[in-house]
Amino acid sequence: MLLLEAAGLEKSYKGKCILKQSEPFQLFNKERIGLVGLNGTGKSTFLKLLTGAEEADTGYVHLFGTFAVVSQFEENSQIITSRSEGLWNLKGKSFETMSGGEKTRTQIAAALEQQPDILILDEPTSHLDMDGMDQLAKVLNHHHGAVLLVSHDRAFLDTVCTKIIELD
Ligand SMILES: Nc1ncnc2c1ncn2[C@@H]1O[C@H](COP(=O)(O)OP(=O)(O)OP(=O)(O)O)[C@@H](O)[C@H]1O
Ligand SMILES: [Mg+2]
Repeated sequence: MLLLEAAGLEKSYKGKCILKQSEPFQLFNKERIGLVGLNGTGKSTFLKLLTGAEEADTGYVHLFGTFAVVSQFEENSQIITSRSEGLWNLKGKSFETMSGGEKTRTQIAAALEQQPDILILDEPTSHLDMDGMDQLAKVLNHHHGAVLLVSHDRAFLDTVCTKIIELD
């Protein structure tokens, strides 16, 4: 089942072309796609266009399901259930004083609570310790829907992904 489709996307900032999609992108249920590419190639921008966080100059995105995002630089506090706090080792923490890894765990927990069809994660492992990475890999492998993941961690990509797309 097709959950997301995008084609012809282009995005410029201040007249400078950042992203030009050369091939259509499709995400099907149960797929786990890893998006890789050097720093600054436009991975986060591409994800923002897919979710509507940023508007594309041209092209289209068709969404056929719900999604939740774990973004690369999130500084807004999120409220999660006490069950999630237990699962992600966040009991008694307040967002203001959380470490980077704890903030990431909070975002992951909040995204999972939504039980979305598509989980979109932008470098979720960069602040996680080994246990956090193992836990994340497990939940992504068991996710009922599709996963779209940006990461620079090859081992993590190998554990989770069924397909890799490189942005050039
Ligand atoms: N709001 C903006 N205004 C101007 N330039 C931007 C904006 N957002 C992104 N860019 C530029 O677009 C390019 C792609 O950025 P993007 O964050 O998508 O890269 P990335 O592939 O996610 O990199 P990284 O691996 O470092 O996370 C960068 O050169 C960045 O400076
Ligand atoms: Mg990025």
